[in-house]
Formats: sequence, C-alpha cells, structure tokens
Amino acid sequence: MALNGKVALVTGARQGLGKAIALGLANAGADVFIADRVIEDGKLDEVAKEIKALGHKSGTSGGDISVEADVVAMIKKATDELGKVDILVNNAGVTAPDRFSDIP
Ligand SMILES: NC(=O)c1ccc[n+]([C@@H]2O[C@H](COP(=O)([O-])OP(=O)(O)OC[C@H]3O[C@@H](n4cnc5c(N)ncnc54)[C@H](O)[C@@H]3O)[C@@H](O)[C@H]2O)c1
Repeated sequence: MALNGKVALVTGARQGLGKAIALGLANAGADVFIADRVIEDGKLDEVAKEIKALGHKSGTSGGDISVEADVVAMIKKATDELGKVDILVNNAGVTAPDRFSDIP
C-alpha cells in the first residue's frame, strides 16, 4: 500500500493502537498529523518525532474529541500545518469496563 503524498489524521495517537496506526501509515508513505487529549506527558510529541524520523511530516494537537470546538481546532491545525486531510482514523476512545451497562 503506497500512501505517498497522502495526509492522515489519527486521533488517540499517543500510545497503543493509535500510535501503531500512525507509525504504520507513515511507514506506508503518508504524512501523519496526530492528536490526543493527553499531551502533558510528552508521548504524543515522541510519536511525532518517530514519524519525522521516517522521513514524513507530522504535527500534533491536544483536545477532547467529544468536544466539538476541540475537533474544529484540531482539523484547522492539521490543514494549516499539513495542507489537507485525506485519511481520518477515528481511533480515540476508551476500553469499556467489564459490563457495557457500567458506562456512565
Ligand atoms: N486494545 C484493544 O484490545 C481494543 C479492542 C477493541 C477496541 N479498542 C479500541 O481501540 C481504540 C484504542 O485502544 P487502545 O487499547 O490503544 O487504547 P489506549 O487507552 O491505549 O489509547 C487510547 C488513546 O486515546 C486517547 N483518548 C481517549 N479518549 C479521548 C478523547 N475523548 N479525545 C481525545 N483522545 C482521547 C487517550 O488519551 C489514549 O492516548 C479505543 O477506541 C478502544 O476502545 C481497543
């Protein structure tokens, strides 16, 4: 799969599946903008560095995807910095407790 020239945006990308997806897309040739609601621990910036080390552009954004204004700001930053978004991976989320009915 060659993604040269494409721009991907991956949410929840500071660890776990989102990080793996972001690096997978970069390995396939894409520039990858990454977002997560947790930015203070520096892990999102580390993922951006790994993407750049693969020879691709990256950018980061904080914000909570359940807050519309945060999503609007995230998309604006991605398009301002990388020009467009071709691929959107809505990965951010939480693993459910044991029982679905326990989710508030
Ligand atoms: N790991 C699994 O076995 C598994 C199985 C099925 C589905 N999933 C889903 O895959 C996705 C990733 O799973 P994971 O195991 O890598 O999770 P993870 O908890 O390791 O990573 C999720 C990331 O998303 C971020 N995030 C969570 N809510 C957010 C929000 N509202 N706004 C912005 N960022 C937010 C977190 O800060 C975290 O960095 C989740 O949606 C999860 O429900 C995971």
